[in-house]
Amino acid sequence: MATRPPHPDWDDLDPAEDAPGTVVDRLHRPLRDLRISVTDRCNFRCRYCMPREVFGTDYAFLDRSAVLSFEEIERVARRFAGAGVTKIRLTGGEPTLRADLPALVALLRTIPGIEIAMTTNGTLLARLAVPLREAGLDRVTVSLDSLDDATFRAMNDVGVPVATVLAGIDEAAAVGLPVKVNAVVRRGVNDGTMLALAERFRGSGHTVRFIEFMDVGTTNGWRLDEVVPSAELVAAIDARWPLRPVAPASPGEVARRYRYADGGGEVGFISSVTQPFCGTCTRMRLSADGRLYTCLFATEGVDLLGVLRTGADDEALDALIQTTWRARADRYSEERSEATAVLPRVEMSYIGG
Ligand SMILES: C[S@@+](CC[C@H](N)C(=O)[O-])C[C@H]1O[C@@H](n2cnc3c(N)ncnc32)[C@H](O)[C@@H]1O
Ligand code: SF4
Repeated sequence: MATRPPHPDWDDLDPAEDAPGTVVDRLHRPLRDLRISVTDRCNFRCRYCMPREVFGTDYAFLDRSAVLSFEEIERVARRFAGAGVTKIRLTGGEPTLRADLPALVALLRTIPGIEIAMTTNGTLLARLAVPLREAGLDRVTVSLDSLDDATFRAMNDVGVPVATVLAGIDEAAAVGLPVKVNAVVRRGVNDGTMLALAERFRGSGHTVRFIEFMDVGTTNGWRLDEVVPSAELVAAIDARWPLRPVAPASPGEVARRYRYADGGGEVGFISSVTQPFCGTCTRMRLSADGRLYTCLFATEGVDLLGVLRTGADDEALDALIQTTWRARADRYSEERSEATAVLPRVEMSYIGG
């Protein structure tokens, strides 16, 4: 067992008190969440994620045969639920591009005790909200980086207007899906439009979460001077609409939450660069081609697909999942430095954010 480095999030945890049956990693973090990338393809070319110079016509996306089938995903998800996972998030690439996605949600719904969420760019949500809700989706996070049309079109780089995403958000809300809105903030690109975004969703019941631009992958031209520290945004929003901090609902929560003092709802800040939250990270990631990743900034995954397709029984799958989690000691965001910046990393569109 690795020695646990001192950390404010860990100091009150006694390793001897890890609940029996819980699978914990080398830093005593339990496995609770599974993010499943259902495709590595996307209809956007967000410059911070899939810049078109790299992900253009020549890019080698995964072959259909290399991608996990719905039955394979359901089988794996069921094993994860047995290992303590209570939340599954479907992501990508753009998850709604996967044909017949509601059928996957319906399959996952048969697993007892899990919440099913999805992160999407919202372009196909107006059409899919009803079937996804009927299949059993519990909640949705919609990415929307600006309400300014020119800024948003430039960021998605395929000319999709803001109105398309807003229509998706409205439809999701209309069918009863709780909605969160994610915005990646880049200095000099969309930071000047963040107060307008906060204002638009104040009082709507939809929480906006402002995300620091992260150094995921190796193709998005990340620079520290384009990161707007969340503290700066908190101060700007607080100056306009006073904010009060809200305690996390659960220990693994990634966003620091605030509520508007006047009752206008909540906002969140995901500050992986300036306030890393590795200490409470309970997430495993499954790529579309069936590799397991223990960190968003991982270099290599563990081949689950190969094991699945060579006829592994449930016991072998359980052993692979548990061994992978138990070996985990990742805390990249806390160790980020000039030395880590040059390490190879998988792309966000492949692993799913
Ligand atoms: C990779 S996307 C996949 C799901 C879907 N296509 C979407 O955009 O919501 C998941 C989340 O990661 C965020 N993201 C992508 N690249 C990022 C980066 N470099 N820094 C911070 N967040 C990023 C996106 O904005 C999105 O909210
Ligand atoms: S952030 Fe989402 S929508 Fe944008 S390119 Fe990446 S996967 Fe596509």
